[in-house]
Amino acid sequence: MTKETIEQTDIITLTNANGTQVKVSALGATVMSFLFKDKDGILRDVVLGYDAPSGYLEHKAGYFGATVGRNANRIANAKCTISGAAYELEANSDQNNLHSGTNGVSHKLWEVEKLDEAANSVTLKFFSAHLEQGFPGNMTMHVTFTLTEDDSLKIAYEAVSDQDTIANFTNHSYFNLAGHNSGCIGKQKLKIYSKEITPLTAALVPSGEIRQVAGTPMDFTEFKEIGRDIDKDYDQLNIAGGYDHNYVLDNNGRLALMAEAVCEETGIHLHAYTDCPGVQFYTGNFISPHTGKDGAAYDKRHAFCLESNYCPNAINIPEFQSPLLKAGETYHSETVYRLSL
Ligand code: GLA
Repeated sequence: MTKETIEQTDIITLTNANGTQVKVSALGATVMSFLFKDKDGILRDVVLGYDAPSGYLEHKAGYFGATVGRNANRIANAKCTISGAAYELEANSDQNNLHSGTNGVSHKLWEVEKLDEAANSVTLKFFSAHLEQGFPGNMTMHVTFTLTEDDSLKIAYEAVSDQDTIANFTNHSYFNLAGHNSGCIGKQKLKIYSKEITPLTAALVPSGEIRQVAGTPMDFTEFKEIGRDIDKDYDQLNIAGGYDHNYVLDNNGRLALMAEAVCEETGIHLHAYTDCPGVQFYTGNFISPHTGKDGAAYDKRHAFCLESNYCPNAINIPEFQSPLLKAGETYHSETVYRLSL
C-alpha cells in the first residue's frame, strides 16, 4: 500500500500478490484505476478516469469512478418529503436533482481516516452538514475500499445522521474490460441478475411502474452483447439514448450477484455483487468526446456502469423500497467488483 499526494489530494494505491492494483483518490472517494492481468499477462486498466485530480474537476458531469451520495441518481423535480417535511433540492439535471447536485460528495475532498495494511484497505470519511445538499441532518459518512487476494474490490459504505434523511450511496466506475482506452463496449457480454426494470418517463425518472424485461431489448437475463439491441427502436432506449436503467434486484438486503460481464478479447470477467435493491445499468450515452488518462480518447459508449443503489426517485415512490435513514441509525451497504479470467 502506498500513499502519495497529487495536487493536494491523497491518493492511495492498493496492490495484491497477483499484481492487481486499485488507486483511490480522496477527491470524491474516487476509484482512479483498477489494473488486472489479462489472459496474455498484460496489465489492463479496466476503468475510465484521468491522470490527476484536476481531470475529475474538469469533467464533473461524468462522475468517473466517484462515490455518489447522499443520494445516487435522480429525484424527480428536485423535491422530496422526508418524515413529513418538504425539501427543495438543487435542479442540476433539467428539472431533476441528479447525484445530489453540485454539492454532492463526488467532488469533495474526503479525509483519509484509516489505512489498514493487513486488510489492504483504505477508509475515507466525509462530514456533510445539515442542508448542505438540501437534505436534512448532519451526516458523517465512511467509505472503505478493500482489495482482496481474489481480486475483488470491495466498497463498503456507512453513514449516520442526527435527523431522518436519505442514505443511498453508489460508486460510479465506468468499466471497459478490454481496457479503458479501447473504445466501444458493444461487443462485451453482460448478464444482469434481474427480470425487471423501473421504466423511465421522458424526464429520465422512473414512472413507478415495474416492467418485465422478457421479450424486450432490456433483457440481459442470459449473457448478451451489450451492443446487440442498444439501437433498437424501443421506448426506453429511445428516451435514454441507450441503457440508463434501473434493474430491480431480489437479494433481500444480502450481498448477492447483480451482474457479470466478460470481454472475450482480454478474457477479463467481472462479477459484481451488491446488497442494494437495484442496479443502474448505464452505457455511457452522455460521454462526450474528450481525453482521459494516458491520452486515451473517450467517447459515447466507451464504458458501462453498474451502479448499485435504491431505485431512483424511491423517496417519492411509496411502492419502491425506501432510502430513508432514521436519525441515529447506521446505514450499511456493500458492493463488490471481482475480476477473474
Ligand atoms: C447516471 C445517470 C446517467 C448520467 C450518469 C452521469 O448513470 O443515470 O443518466 O447522469 O449517471 O453522467
